[in-house]
Amino acid sequence: MLAFLFPLAALAIVSAHQEPKTDAEIETQRALQRAAYYCAPAVGEFTAARKRAWQQQVLSGLPLNQAAFAPSIPSGGIPALPTDDELFDSETYEATSTSKSNQEILACNVVEDETEIQNNTCVLTPIVTEGPYYHNSGHPIRQNIAEYQIGLLTYLDIGVIDINTCKPLPNVLVDIWQANATGHYAGHPDPAPHLVNEKPQVGGKRAGLLSAFPRTNYHEQWLRGAWETDSHGVARFTTIFPGYYTGRATHVHAKVFTSWSENKNGTFTGGKLAHVGQFFFEDDLNMQIDKMFPYVENPIRDIRGRTRNWRDSLNIFEDSHGPEGEYDPIFKMHLLGGVINQGLVGFITMGVNASHEADNWWKP
Ligand SMILES: *[C@@H]1O[C@H](CO)[C@@H](O)[C@H](O)[C@H]1NC(C)=O
Ligand SMILES: *[C@@H]1O[C@H](CO)[C@@H](O)[C@H](O)[C@H]1NC(C)=O
Ligand SMILES: *[C@@H]1O[C@H](CO)[C@@H](O)[C@H](O)[C@H]1NC(C)=O
Ligand SMILES: *[C@@H]1O[C@H](CO)[C@@H](O)[C@H](O)[C@H]1NC(C)=O
Repeated sequence: MLAFLFPLAALAIVSAHQEPKTDAEIETQRALQRAAYYCAPAVGEFTAARKRAWQQQVLSGLPLNQAAFAPSIPSGGIPALPTDDELFDSETYEATSTSKSNQEILACNVVEDETEIQNNTCVLTPIVTEGPYYHNSGHPIRQNIAEYQIGLLTYLDIGVIDINTCKPLPNVLVDIWQANATGHYAGHPDPAPHLVNEKPQVGGKRAGLLSAFPRTNYHEQWLRGAWETDSHGVARFTTIFPGYYTGRATHVHAKVFTSWSENKNGTFTGGKLAHVGQFFFEDDLNMQIDKMFPYVENPIRDIRGRTRNWRDSLNIFEDSHGPEGEYDPIFKMHLLGGVINQGLVGFITMGVNASHEADNWWKP
């Protein structure tokens, strides 16, 4: 994928609707976003090891994108979710560095954008708005969040590094949520009745945006889920590539909880919240996927079309790069097979401050 360098400018800190208000909050925000580059080598090695682990699975003929990931589908139910053991060999990472034959394979597989990743990810990941579609309760603990949503198979490999130690952060909960292929969030199917004919705002920070669709369906949970980082600080998800909706660049939301409790029904209740952010995809890739089914059926395709990354409303894409543009919030995507339709795997590393508790102004 083409590297996309965002033009650095004097970027506003955060301009979303739940922005920090008091001086203390603004200072906390600035401190969080000013973290230095000292984790660079750790992050580079971390991401490279994860990429090698994936390559190893492909090269050694391990069932990567079929049996290992295919959810078993009970009659009449939603797909059952594969466990971590089913998804990944327990020794995947060790195997990539210890076995001799593996090392030979690895030697042939230079991770070409390692340097880029080092330079882009070893900073604190900027905190940006969680937006109106988060559900404070009801996100299931699971790796496969797709349920029956139709779309392009996408694995997300999300690494978490604690910027206090420069080490991968195990045992934290990565909670993600995203729109489906035609731009809807689970639970929010329709606009409020009096806003059915609303036109997107013209100009201003909210340019292109409609009012948030209210939550009217409390049972839907698709494309929402949380998973604990493993001993290597990685949480992997199976999903579909998200679709776009009015005013927003294609994105995936993420929160990181350092404490939480599991509910009897398989969902969790969040405790300490260390991070709230959004991740993006290369604009070129978005444009290609727009041509695929069912993304072509996006209801706004012929009216307003997709929002390009640099036109994202509320400055969220810009803000997600941090105040000096040091963070790259764009997934590094790789094809899983020979052609794009076979799916994608995306890597991103988040630098979070595990001691930080982002509570006050980010919670609705
Ligand atoms: C990171 O980028 C800066 C500025 O472009 C450059 O001076 C530095 O050498 C880079 N560091 C690495 C590890 O690539
Ligand atoms: C699951 O349990 C939590 C906590 O008791 C509750 O808030 C949530 O609504 C429940 N979700 C479902 C789908 O029953
Ligand atoms: C996305 O969700 C909306 C709302 O539930 C639904 O109408 C639409 O069919 C879904 N898109 C696809 C591609 O299934
Ligand atoms: C991490 O968070 C703690 C607690 O809020 C704070 O004291 C510390 O300065 C933060 N570290 C960085 C690098 O921002």
